[in-house]
Amino acid sequence: AYPKRVKVVEVGPRDGLQNEKNVVPTPVKINLINMLSETGLQVIEATSFVSPKWVPQMADHTEVMQGINKLPGISYPVLTPNLKGFQAAVAAGAKEVSIFGAASEKFTQKNINCSIEESLERFEEVMKAAKEVNIPVRGYVSCVLGCPYEGKISAAKVAEVSKKMYSMGCYEISLGDTIGVGTPGSMKEMLTVVMKEVPVGALAVHCHDTYGQALANILVALQMGVSVVDASVAGLGGCPYAQGASGNVATEDLVYMLNGLGIHTGVDLQKLMDTGTFICNALNRKTNSKVSQASCRL
Ligand code: HMG
Ligand code: MG
Repeated sequence: AYPKRVKVVEVGPRDGLQNEKNVVPTPVKINLINMLSETGLQVIEATSFVSPKWVPQMADHTEVMQGINKLPGISYPVLTPNLKGFQAAVAAGAKEVSIFGAASEKFTQKNINCSIEESLERFEEVMKAAKEVNIPVRGYVSCVLGCPYEGKISAAKVAEVSKKMYSMGCYEISLGDTIGVGTPGSMKEMLTVVMKEVPVGALAVHCHDTYGQALANILVALQMGVSVVDASVAGLGGCPYAQGASGNVATEDLVYMLNGLGIHTGVDLQKLMDTGTFICNALNRKTNSKVSQASCRL
């Protein structure tokens, strides 16, 4: 049985733009987020409070957070890898943050320059600070279906890291197929193991579409009871520390599929497509959304 409604977590302004080579002007980012806010999305990941030396594209995080129209009822979470990032995020007005770990030792090292164990210690610090000011924390686990450095990742390791992050107080764990190598088969196997440790109501899936499997993998997750799905408008995105990884599933394509299944999202597909057109024009690139590319309209 499918969930009756799905919460779509839009990650385009963060995951989508962090990987762009040319600096995207801050006003374009602000416009993008403001347009997304008008589509009916409930969650829009806005930016990252990471080191500008590591991810220059997110260096304008404070300007973005302070420049957007924050509409009531919409959450604008930001990535915070450590206490320093958390404090800067709060100072910029963030009301929700995400910590991001991985089920791969090598990826953790490349992405946030520490071991998995050290990352969890840093996350504990963020968690403690967040609890003091009542800020909800989401947890990402990357490389759940494969790692660009280690290859295959065991479902047991994914479950272990997910459980630790859930136990420390993350209200939701987003399982990231960072390099989009998963298939419906490996997704089902991984979720079966993870669901023994973290309740399915607290799980989200975050599928990059590198191998064209994202929608199929999401469908399997929905069938298993997952009701939170990350996506990126126009299918923008990738991770600077996972070379060759392409964007997330396009939000337009996800919403089209959910509409077809009769699953409520509250998102206006036309407004979403207009937003995709805006950002693709601004970046001077073609959309990765199949729905937007389609010329036959029903
Ligand atoms: P580090 O170099 O080990 O940090 O980087 P450090 O603590 O040793 O500090 C070194 C310098 O960085 C110091 O400055 C710190 O102040 C500064 P200096 O004294 O040299 O001038 N620093 C910071 N500056 C700004 N914001 C901060 C911060 N922390 C320290 N928060 C660090 C460690 C985590 C900072 C670094 O590795 C980093 O920023 N990594 C971010 C990588 C990233 O953003 N990756 C992409 C997001 S993850 C992703 O895309 C996957 C996901 O989508 C899910 C999926 O698809 O699987 C979420
Ligand atoms: Mg990602």
